Amino acid sequence: MPHIIHLPRFEDPRGNLTYVEQENHIPFKIKRVYWIYDVPGGQTRGGHAFREQQEFIVALSGSFDVVVNTGEEESRYHLNRSYYGLFVPPGLWRHLDNFSTNSVAMVLSSTTYSAGDYIRDFDEYLQFRRK
Ligand code: TYD
Repeated sequence: MPHIIHLPRFEDPRGNLTYVEQENHIPFKIKRVYWIYDVPGGQTRGGHAFREQQEFIVALSGSFDVVVNTGEEESRYHLNRSYYGLFVPPGLWRHLDNFSTNSVAMVLSSTTYSAGDYIRDFDEYLQFRRK
């Protein structure tokens, strides 16, 4: 199941520092990093599932919600600090919403970009989950 992972945090009067290491803090090797930014108020991104991709989502700036739907239940995770993130295992439907002004969502992914890894149709997702 998805879960919040807290990262090392070095508080310093000069400014704080956090880092993340593949296979140490998150349980996969990072193949790709992308980020979502300049999201207009009220918009939703990322409404789909991935067959293979594992991901770790961090609010580098501002805040937003990640909503994960297992097909049976929906969980909402509010991300608003850059020293923790949400690990999402493969095969789960998720979307991002409730973006604050100037928020930045950084996504660490276990795969390179592959259009074939997406499930974009919710009914197809429900069939996939039943298997
Ligand atoms: P997409 O993941 O479909 O965004 P959303 O689920 O929020 O609608 O990505 C939007 C577009 O960006 C899509 O045309 C594919 C492209 N894209 C890449 O080429 N590489 C990437 O790593 C990502 C995440 C997206």
